[in-house]
Amino acid sequence: MTERLRLGVNIDHVATIRNARGGAHPDPARAAEIAAQAGADGITLHIREDRRHVREEDLAAIAAITQLPINLEMACAAEMLPIALKARPHAVCLVPERRAERTTEGGLDAAGQFAHIAPYVRALGEAGSRVSLFIDPDLRQIEAAVRLGAPVVELHTGAYAEAFAAGEAEPVLQAIRAAASAGHAQGLEIHAGHGLTFENVGPVAAIPEIRELNIGHFLIGEAVFTGLAAAVGEMRRCMDAARAGA
Ligand code: PXP
Repeated sequence: MTERLRLGVNIDHVATIRNARGGAHPDPARAAEIAAQAGADGITLHIREDRRHVREEDLAAIAAITQLPINLEMACAAEMLPIALKARPHAVCLVPERRAERTTEGGLDAAGQFAHIAPYVRALGEAGSRVSLFIDPDLRQIEAAVRLGAPVVELHTGAYAEAFAAGEAEPVLQAIRAAASAGHAQGLEIHAGHGLTFENVGPVAAIPEIRELNIGHFLIGEAVFTGLAAAVGEMRRCMDAARAGA
């Protein structure tokens, strides 16, 4: 079952730096090209309702330049649906979104918001995108994802990253393992992401049911020091080593 673990590189924060000055530099599409050459398996981007980082033009530019599958993250918001239906990316990851938050702070409440989420899963799936739900590693949310008919869930690793930093990762890791195992047993493809770094990625990458990690902020931050290709290459190495049980 231990298939190759895919790395989706989230290039949002290249756009954050660009937008700090306006203009066109640094270009997220160039980052997507470099990430591809360095071993990324996919490009992830999150068009937020407030457009604080990437925008529709970035999605179009990246789609035109890359051969890699694109994973578009978006909120279940009426305004976002036509953008995704027009672009028809390989995958769409539905995420919760609050304007005041600094980043996606928790998972989508697939259980509580079932009726609101269901038409998005249906419409995006019918358009040919593989729909993923960004949920907390919680069995209730796994059940809801199955009932919603989403083929993929992405487990939110933000709480794990915080617990890892505090030296208390094990209970959260157990919850991620349990959710990955339950979801996989029910036919879901399992992804994970948020807050992952060279240091904390190993235990998550070693979970055999997980097929893809989506990693952004740390890689773009690290790229400031070492370059994006080196940062992506090192993350690939950390993931492969963990997967191989090293
Ligand atoms: N996966 C999803 C669904 C996200 O919303 C984000 C953050 O935008 C990530 C992964 C990547 O998180 P980070 O930037 O902390 O690596």
